[in-house]
Amino acid sequence: RKPMTIPEIQKMHLQGEKITVLTAYDYPFARIMDEAGIDIVLVGDSVGSTVAGYDNTLPVTMDDMVYHTRAVVRAVRQALVVTDLPFLSYQIDVTEACRNAGRLVKEAGAQAVKLEGGEPMAETIAAIVRMDIPVMGHIGLTPQSIHRMGGYRVQGRKDEQARQLLADARAVEQAGAFALVLEGIPASLARQITAELSIPTIGIGAGVDCSGQVLVIHDILGLCEKYSPKFVKRYADIAPLIREGVDAYIREVRTGEFPTAEHSFN
Ligand code: KIV
Ligand code: NA
Repeated sequence: RKPMTIPEIQKMHLQGEKITVLTAYDYPFARIMDEAGIDIVLVGDSVGSTVAGYDNTLPVTMDDMVYHTRAVVRAVRQALVVTDLPFLSYQIDVTEACRNAGRLVKEAGAQAVKLEGGEPMAETIAAIVRMDIPVMGHIGLTPQSIHRMGGYRVQGRKDEQARQLLADARAVEQAGAFALVLEGIPASLARQITAELSIPTIGIGAGVDCSGQVLVIHDILGLCEKYSPKFVKRYADIAPLIREGVDAYIREVRTGEFPTAEHSFN
């Protein structure tokens, strides 16, 4: 398999091939999904919820994203690595956004960045693209907007909101983004946006007609036990496996079954 690149993603889209995306935040997970043949590894700011245990993604910092991206980049041989710009790293002004996008590429090794927002972010997306840093857009249910939305709710159900999301999608494409994440919107709206754009749409809770799909790795493996949205499909349930291993270890240390001479140095 060839290393995945932006032109390669464009080619896949032209040929109508579905684009597969999963999140990863560390070396072992990134390694496994890269070897499995995933197209894009997204170092999402969902790391705040999945790994750091925060209630939402807002506390995640640039330093967090650099650290996790470095771990992922060291593991990945084939996939394209895209990293999220975290809350407050790109909203204040375009210059700061460009500097932070640059950090993710230069210090961490990301090949592209992702940021949330439509029309209001068009200028920022265009400026980052002008630095030759590819940008993935993200509209609909944007987790960094949790306080405006009043929780994680499906967006674009009302006509006016749907029209705005279509305008947002066009603005993101116009600004030069290479792909657009559609999160938590009605399937019919996602189908319409996908039909109107020439760049690929990557759906998460956005129906069956997007050009690709993304999910959070901890969600599909059953590692997020407290909250699981409707759009998640659980492909494996590894929490009980982990618990089994940990239980066995504790038991054997307590009973003296582990370690044995086999695990000892002479
Ligand atoms: O942070 C994240 O994991 C994301 C994807 C779910 C799109 O932004
Ligand atoms: Na994100």
